[in-house]
Formats: sequence, C-alpha cells, structure tokens
Amino acid sequence: MSTGSENKLQSWSYENTEEQSHVITLTQDEKKQVKNIIEQFPPLDLESIHDDLLTRVQLASFQLPYRIVERILRFRRSPEKGVLLVRNLPTDPELPPTPKDARPSPQKKTHSSEYTLLIHMLFLGEPIIYTEEKEGKLINDICPVQGTDHTQEHTGSKKSFPFHTENAFHPYRPDHLGLICLRSDHDQKAQTPVASIIDALPLLPSAAITLLRKPLYRIRPTQMFKHHEDDQQMVAVLSGSLLEPDMRMHFRLMEGINPEAQWALDQLKSTLQQVALHYVLTPGDLFLINNRRVVHGRSTFTPCYDGNDRWIQRMFTVQDFQRSSFSRGKGQHLCVPLHVEFSVH
Ligand SMILES: [Fe+2]
Repeated sequence: MSTGSENKLQSWSYENTEEQSHVITLTQDEKKQVKNIIEQFPPLDLESIHDDLLTRVQLASFQLPYRIVERILRFRRSPEKGVLLVRNLPTDPELPPTPKDARPSPQKKTHSSEYTLLIHMLFLGEPIIYTEEKEGKLINDICPVQGTDHTQEHTGSKKSFPFHTENAFHPYRPDHLGLICLRSDHDQKAQTPVASIIDALPLLPSAAITLLRKPLYRIRPTQMFKHHEDDQQMVAVLSGSLLEPDMRMHFRLMEGINPEAQWALDQLKSTLQQVALHYVLTPGDLFLINNRRVVHGRSTFTPCYDGNDRWIQRMFTVQDFQRSSFSRGKGQHLCVPLHVEFSVH
C-alpha cells in the first residue's frame, strides 16, 4: 500500500496543462471570481434548501471561471479515474469552532463553504439525501465526535474508515460525492484515500473479474440504515461496462457467499489498496468523487476536541433523479427510509 508521502499532489497550471491531471488549482484571479459570485447569494437556511435556490445557484454557476466549468463538465462526461480535486477555493472569512456534535454550527454566520460545495456539485447532478443519515440534511458536517473515536464511521478518528463506495447497499446511492475542507486536523495527518476501479481492473485476474460480476456478495447496511439485525442484500461488486465497470463495495460490510467469491473480493481489496492515492485535504479544497468508480476512506488522526478539529462538509448527487422518484415527495430530495422502500417492492 502506498503512503501519502509517496504520492505526489499534482498541481495544475495553465502553462502546464496535463489533460489527465485530476488536480486543478485556482489562480488568485479565479478564486476572486468564485468569491464574487458566492457573495451575491442570500444567507443560507440549512434546514430548507429548496429548488428555487438550487436553480439560482446553478444559473450563477455558469459565471464561474471557464477553466473550472470546463474541467468539471469533462469530469462528469468522461470521469477517467473518477476523482477531481479543486484547490484554492474561497473560504469563509470567519470560521467558528468545529462543531462537537457533527451537526450544522449555529455560530457559522457565513456560508462560503456550503455555496462553494453547491455551485460545483450541481454540475454533476441533482442533490439526493436519505432519511436515516444526518437528519436528512442536504449538506452534512463531518467532524470527529468525542466518545466515538474508535468507530469506523465518519465521526471516528482513531480507527481508519475502511474503503467503501458511499451507501453501497442503497438502491439510490449517490453517483457523486463532494467533500469540501473547512479545517484540517491539527497535525495535518488525516488522509482521504481513494482508489479507482479503472486503475485496479488491469491488475486483476480475469477469473476474479468474472466472479465479481456475479451476485455472489452479501452486503449489510451501515448501522444508521439498519432496521433489522439481519438486513442484507445479494449484489454483484462490478457491473456494466467490461472496461469501465461500476463498482459497489464496502471493505467491512461485504463478503462473498462462497470461498471463490471471497477470493475474488480479497483480490480486488488488495489491488485497490495497491493503487490507492492519499490526499490530505486543506481549507479551500473541494474533492469530487465518482461513487461508481472510486472507493474512499479516511486514515486515523488525533482529534483534540478544542474547536479546531478537522471539519469537512459533504453532499451527494445523482445523475438520474427520476429513478428515485418513487422514494421522494414532489419537489423533495429526501428518500424514504430504506426498510420502507424495500417493504413495497
Ligand atoms: Fe464515505
């Protein structure tokens, strides 16, 4: 497994355009342009982000610097490895203490981070949210919570969060997730590792790929989505294109139903570890992840619970919003509880 220091963060510049680069760093002029657009938006009510506001934000998004819009549109259309890191975005002028409960901070009076997340993510699809997760809020705060240090969930810190595609068990799992960094951890050691199936596939034996394309894998929902102790589904890990497949994966909550299936899963796991890239997100970074191609996780880090801990905000989008319409009310982005969804099919 490679480490953060072994992986170079490639800087993207106009003079040195790398078509395949997955990192783009805004110039100071571009950063100012983004800031000017965001400052025109009204104060944000995080409890009620409605469609009129989303439309307004999306209309304004076409005023973003051409280079950024082009890169994101290309990323959506032709995702390649499936990650795009946008750096040097504007940050909130004043940042209150990191919330201790991983809920929206009532002390946060400006909304640069939320609008920056929204304005970029809307290029990738329609926001989607889940009743069971983060109180059904469209923008989620990810921070360490004291007492949950050793959980392998987003509030944990002292155990790494193993690789997974987001909500892999859910029929309306996101196609993309966006992570914006408001504050790094004290030691700047918390890594966000990612690994793409596009990099892993050529390294896998064909026998493993063939098994991974069969519904030989039991997947359990994460704790918050679990309704019954024995909730589980049978799924394939890989599907769709032979060359650029979709992947649904959870290192901890997925297992093969026989030794051969488990062997193939283990092959994929070790290969994903091998091709992983590790990023330390810093304020002004927006990490866009294609959830059909890429697994992500989190390394360990040491929180201090002093108001200066790591603070990330997150949102999800889907490309085909209509597909989840049965699960949502009119004009809403919130899916019904998973056990209700499954009970009517
Ligand atoms: Fe995740």
